[in-house]
Amino acid sequence: MPVEPKNFSTLIKGLKAAGVKGFNITVPYKSNIMPFCDKVDSLAKTIGAVNTVVEKNGKWEGKVTDPFGFRKSIETSFKGFSLRGKRILLLGAGGAALSVAYVCLTAGNSQLVVMNRTKSKAEALIQRMKKAGFTRCSCTDYNHDILLSDNRFDLLINSTSSGLRKEDRAIISLSNTEKKMKVYDLIYNPSMTPLLKEAKKEGLLYANGLSMLIYQAFQSFSFWTGVEPTEKDARDISSFF
Ligand code: ATR
Repeated sequence: MPVEPKNFSTLIKGLKAAGVKGFNITVPYKSNIMPFCDKVDSLAKTIGAVNTVVEKNGKWEGKVTDPFGFRKSIETSFKGFSLRGKRILLLGAGGAALSVAYVCLTAGNSQLVVMNRTKSKAEALIQRMKKAGFTRCSCTDYNHDILLSDNRFDLLINSTSSGLRKEDRAIISLSNTEKKMKVYDLIYNPSMTPLLKEAKKEGLLYANGLSMLIYQAFQSFSFWTGVEPTEKDARDISSFF
């Protein structure tokens, strides 16, 4: 359901009045929903976003399933690859970047560098992660040469909206990058963003964010119903896209 910002509060109050058992909520309302929740779980508080609301006995609990979605997506997209101990460059510092940063940093011994067009937002994201107890994270100036120094990163993640529009070009050049670096784009429509096309051209392993979308929905579904979807369900659902 698309909703105009001016109608947001009316819609949410309507859902509450109707006794809706649960729903997902997405951009740009993942933080706006928080004041409407009777409780926000600790993960959602740390990340500062709620994408899943679960009703129990008339009370709403706000939860976030994007971290689960991203973790599972990385595991299934890059078989045998673990975020543990990896050097990761994250492009973007919006709502989606928070969940990604959290997962990267909880992997253990990993290092995260955040680069965003507006540096202050990258700094705010790092502040939030430091407040949550993570130290191996920093941000850097918006500089396209960052990938040129050999073997600097194991994984590049695009969490910006660059790549959504037809006229977009690859957000960062991948020529001369270390061939072992993997490239993950949270965008799933188009399935091949300019960045992923470039990764393919350069012979890098790459994945889009479709399975993240599916896996975050899986966890939400299990919160609402108590039923956990299977890997077969994931494959079946992927074939619809
Ligand atoms: P989401 O919740 O999907 O992350 P968002 O909160 O609107 O969406 O964040 C969008 C991100 O994409 C931001 O990091 C934004 O950079 P700014 O903070 O500078 O606005 C980034 N972004 C959007 N278009 C971009 C572009 N053409 N080039 C680089 N970064 C872009």
